[in-house]
Amino acid sequence: NFANVESVWLFGYGSLIYKVDFPYLEKRPAAIYGWLRRFWQGSHDHRGTPTAPGRVLTLVAQAGARCSGMAYRVSPEVFAQLDEREKNGYLREDITLHFDDGQQQPGLVYFANADNDAYLGPASERDIAAHIAASSGPSGSNRDYLLQLAEALRAMQVFDEHVFLIEQHLLRLINKPTNGKAGQSSSAC
Ligand code: BEZ
Repeated sequence: NFANVESVWLFGYGSLIYKVDFPYLEKRPAAIYGWLRRFWQGSHDHRGTPTAPGRVLTLVAQAGARCSGMAYRVSPEVFAQLDEREKNGYLREDITLHFDDGQQQPGLVYFANADNDAYLGPASERDIAAHIAASSGPSGSNRDYLLQLAEALRAMQVFDEHVFLIEQHLLRLINKPTNGKAGQSSSAC
């Protein structure tokens, strides 16, 4: 389906922002309209397991929304590798990318809709943080996924309320002692 195309723009809004393990020809900050980044997709294969899935990002349609991320111009062969990496419920969707200079280009984005088996759906940012704090899988801890993403968004000067609220809750949770021992020993001193 990429007949006669030399390169394709790919929009990254999640792990594709900070984990760039694929070759690209060009990289530019970009945005898409009508979509929000949300930790509503389950991860059975990267940040969780089939019995204890983690929570990772997908896109949720919302009129008037804007989602900022990173666009990569890639050769079509790269999609074979990415389709394998993102096989847990994600499909490729056609989308219009908006660059900072006002230029627009057609492109592709991976997203997981509510129909896939791994979909978890909405929860409060506090509950999502607790879920993430407790999850890990073959690609590492779910908390590292969130913390690396939040750091990458800050570096791009992208403010995402959903992500940063979850980060705040998570940092509060993981800095708290998980049993009474630390508190008991310090009060005994
Ligand atoms: C992304 O960063 O664009 C992405 C997020 C989840 C799955 C696939 C891609």
